[in-house]
Amino acid sequence: MFNQHLIPDAQSLPEGQALSITVEQNDFLITKQQGQIFAYENLCPHQNKPLSCQKECALDEEGDYLKCHHHGALFSPKDGSCITGPCQGSSLKRATIGIVEGNCYLLLA
Ligand code: FES
Repeated sequence: MFNQHLIPDAQSLPEGQALSITVEQNDFLITKQQGQIFAYENLCPHQNKPLSCQKECALDEEGDYLKCHHHGALFSPKDGSCITGPCQGSSLKRATIGIVEGNCYLLLA
């Protein structure tokens, strides 16, 4: 059984940008790539710190990768894998997204 949490701004999120939300006292990053919405726990696997406290800083300059501002690790927005940085080979923890009647929800077990 999942708890559904509406992400009000997800559908209008521009391509290549991210927003951060707090649900049940956990922080998540939401990003849209090629029309698909992805969600990850906002915790870098390097030192278990939030990638960013500000949504504007969660992506690299081109908007292609999620970026940890602590030591510069870059993560694929499509699967959360670290492609370069001190935690290369590890991944962000993906969260489940559901779309119901055009609304986007974060689904937490
Ligand atoms: S805490 Fe994220 S790269 Fe070091």
